[in-house]
Amino acid sequence: MTSSTPRRIRKAVFPVAGLGTRFLPATKTVPKEMLPIVDRPLIQYAVDEAIAAGCDTLVFVTNRYKHAVADYFDKAYELEQKLEKAGKQQQLDLIRNVLPEGVRAVFVTQAEALGLGHAVLCAKPVVGDEPFAVLLPDDLIWSRGEGALKQMADHAHATGSSAVAVQDVPRAQTASYGIVATEAFDGQAGRIHQIVEKPRPEVAPSTLAVVGRYVLSPRIFDLLETTPRGAGGEIQLTDAIAALLDEQRVDAFRFRGTRFDCGTHIGLIEATIRFALDNETLSDAAQHLMRSALDEMGVVES
Ligand code: UTP
Repeated sequence: MTSSTPRRIRKAVFPVAGLGTRFLPATKTVPKEMLPIVDRPLIQYAVDEAIAAGCDTLVFVTNRYKHAVADYFDKAYELEQKLEKAGKQQQLDLIRNVLPEGVRAVFVTQAEALGLGHAVLCAKPVVGDEPFAVLLPDDLIWSRGEGALKQMADHAHATGSSAVAVQDVPRAQTASYGIVATEAFDGQAGRIHQIVEKPRPEVAPSTLAVVGRYVLSPRIFDLLETTPRGAGGEIQLTDAIAALLDEQRVDAFRFRGTRFDCGTHIGLIEATIRFALDNETLSDAAQHLMRSALDEMGVVES
């Protein structure tokens, strides 16, 4: 390996210190990232995706109320003992394997919810001077083949660029996303030359929306340190990426897979339905339930 060969990402940052107001009252005590899709919390899906992409250090940016996330990745001695005594090996494996061997979890606190950019900056002491991933667990990405982050990590490694996951959205929805303008796509990726946070449809430079997966150069930390508070009084990751564009190549990457916006009620419901339909043991029952619910409610197929 020459010194100019880009390093593979090993560290993944999970900013989970947001307030989760869209899921109140549930999120009064349960962090949004602990809401389950079938039998696993959202955070577990994101963690599995990061590990499949080659990450062995998981950095959770939490706040002082979010003990549930740390507890989830901690050893549950009492529960393990009980399951062991009862001979419930399958369930024992399930709780022991939330993190495979060789993968470590590190927790850092974001004292105040000053925005996603600020949350990412809180991970700087652990990440240091190497490229790293950021995953927002409420964007759940389902794919049959390689996970979205693995696809992006391979691209970033091959090109030496940073990468931001994107998907096409209807123009009417641009105000809900960061939107990028790019050079022509070569395969799945195109170099970004502009990124704007939540533009109104009439001024959006494209309909390519940023979703919650990033592979970033460590230079982003220096830029975040000088990023002023932007939209909503928060330090925006988008603003720091906009500054990074002037210095380094950042690619928009259209991943293969389906993304569910589990930060919204309907997105969480959609993911639950899709995962249930894809689950061997649940699929038949789930289809039956859905049909009879539609039937009972007098909803006719169009
Ligand atoms: P969201 O915009 O989804 O905000 O943050 P939120 O607070 O979690 O949810 P709502 O909108 O109030 O319902 C995007 C991601 O950034 C993290 C969140 O935890 C989420 O993963 N975040 C946001 C932080 O870690 N810290 C912040 O200060 C803000």
